[in-house]
Amino acid sequence: MIVFENVEYVYPNGVKALRDVNLRIGEGEVVAIMGENGAGKTTLLKHLNGLLKPTKGRVLIQGIDTKEATVAELSRKVGIVFQNAEEMFFSGSVWEETEFALRNFGFSEDVIRRRVEWTLRFMELWNYKDKSPFMLSGGEKKRLALSVILAWSPEIIVLDEPTLGQDQLQKEKMMEVIKLLNTQGKTVILSSHDIEFVAELKPRVILMKGGKIVGDGPAEKIMVDLELLESCSLIPPQMVQLTSRLEFIGIEAKLASPEDIARDIMERIKS
Ligand SMILES: Nc1ncnc2c1ncn2[C@@H]1O[C@H](COP(=O)(O)OP(=O)(O)O)[C@@H](O)[C@H]1O
Ligand SMILES: [Mg+2]
Repeated sequence: MIVFENVEYVYPNGVKALRDVNLRIGEGEVVAIMGENGAGKTTLLKHLNGLLKPTKGRVLIQGIDTKEATVAELSRKVGIVFQNAEEMFFSGSVWEETEFALRNFGFSEDVIRRRVEWTLRFMELWNYKDKSPFMLSGGEKKRLALSVILAWSPEIIVLDEPTLGQDQLQKEKMMEVIKLLNTQGKTVILSSHDIEFVAELKPRVILMKGGKIVGDGPAEKIMVDLELLESCSLIPPQMVQLTSRLEFIGIEAKLASPEDIARDIMERIKS
């Protein structure tokens, strides 16, 4: 369980980035934090591994107050892939970069080898295992940044804007990774303003605005609240825009697939 209690965060320059944030995230949940630029998403995520500590209030990760733990301790439970994670590579090869954290945590050679191999194959980086991380393309670097976390396999995985700058194929891979992590019982928390991606994932959605949580609920509910989305400068998913225009023929605004909506329309036409 992750608990935020009346969390306020003020940056040293006086910017108040979190205001009275109260939040509980259970084990195995998939949560998307949405909101416009500057809403406070990254600041909130940085509280999950103690990189930032609340100015007021407290953050508990599985009962541990982040003020009483070191980033190293929290990192065993919480892995964060930052937006610019690929700028931080330091190893000579893709393999070494992926195994580094596992070595630090003291896993056995055998476990390290199996985990790194599985991860690199799954992330389609196996052929690059001996290549320098710095020689990879942008998309490959993103996949490596995620591999580093996947191999280390913490219980809570945090992804800051995972689809930013990704093409359609890479986004599909990202969706697959998140779904796999969820079936493994991991807690996945991501920030995004990619509404179509979140609409397809259908996680619990938390809306932020000006450092405050202004909406919290299943995607199916939050994504059809056009007023709430607009107040957060978010454009509703296309399928919601479409269904909300079909109310005059008795179809409710909903987060559905094009196939479902087509079927609904056919039924209305027939009857
Ligand atoms: N290192 C920092 N120092 C001062 N202000 C910051 C810093 N990082 C972010 N901010 C400010 O905090 C607010 C929230 O930023 P951030 O958490 O990055 O939002 P988001 O990730 O939703 O775009 C913004 O007003 C931003 O300008
Ligand atoms: Mg951000």
